[in-house]
Amino acid sequence: MSAESNASALVHPRLSVPPGLADDSELVMRVAPLPADSNANGDVFGGWIMAQVDIAGSVLPARVARGRITTVAVNQFIFKQPVSIGDLLSFYARVTRVGRSSISVNVEVWAERNPAAPELVRVTEASLTYVAIDEQGRPRALT
Ligand SMILES: CC(C)(COP(=O)(O)OP(=O)(O)OC[C@H]1O[C@@H](n2cnc3c(N)ncnc32)[C@H](O)[C@@H]1OP(=O)(O)O)[C@@H](O)C(=O)NCCC(=O)NCCS
Repeated sequence: MSAESNASALVHPRLSVPPGLADDSELVMRVAPLPADSNANGDVFGGWIMAQVDIAGSVLPARVARGRITTVAVNQFIFKQPVSIGDLLSFYARVTRVGRSSISVNVEVWAERNPAAPELVRVTEASLTYVAIDEQGRPRALT
């Protein structure tokens, strides 16, 4: 067996696509939390996850807006399962609404964990709205 085929045989069957993910969802970011991101319980601090979701959620709106955007609202944020140090987090986003100047997105966060018997767990789901803005920070119509 060549080194290349041996390497591919060792790679675990694809875990990267979560079951039931909407067809129009796109992987926009992956990140692994570090010990500095944990809370007193040893789990990952919710505020850190919220910041990552804000960054990941902005990827598609920035593409749609072709310029500056800002977060105007976090419409919903659900922590379904705790996140642990050692998890690899994948952020999947899809645009749910495009208005005159605003773009709303749904973000799902999935944790890949337990390397000995890998599993994917949906840990967070959120809905956010971003607004395209001009140089003065005023809403800008999407073209
Ligand atoms: C975002 C901002 C420029 C909007 O200004 P505004 O004067 O409220 O603008 P408007 O009322 O015309 O609303 C603009 C769009 O945002 C949408 N919007 C406003 N408030 C919203 C809310 N609470 N939820 C969802 N959408 C909202 C409006 O529906 C509108 O969408 P549309 O143009 O697609 O119809 C302004 O509120 C702002 O600068 N906020 C601070 C943003 C920021 O600093 N974010 C980082 C967090 S620290």
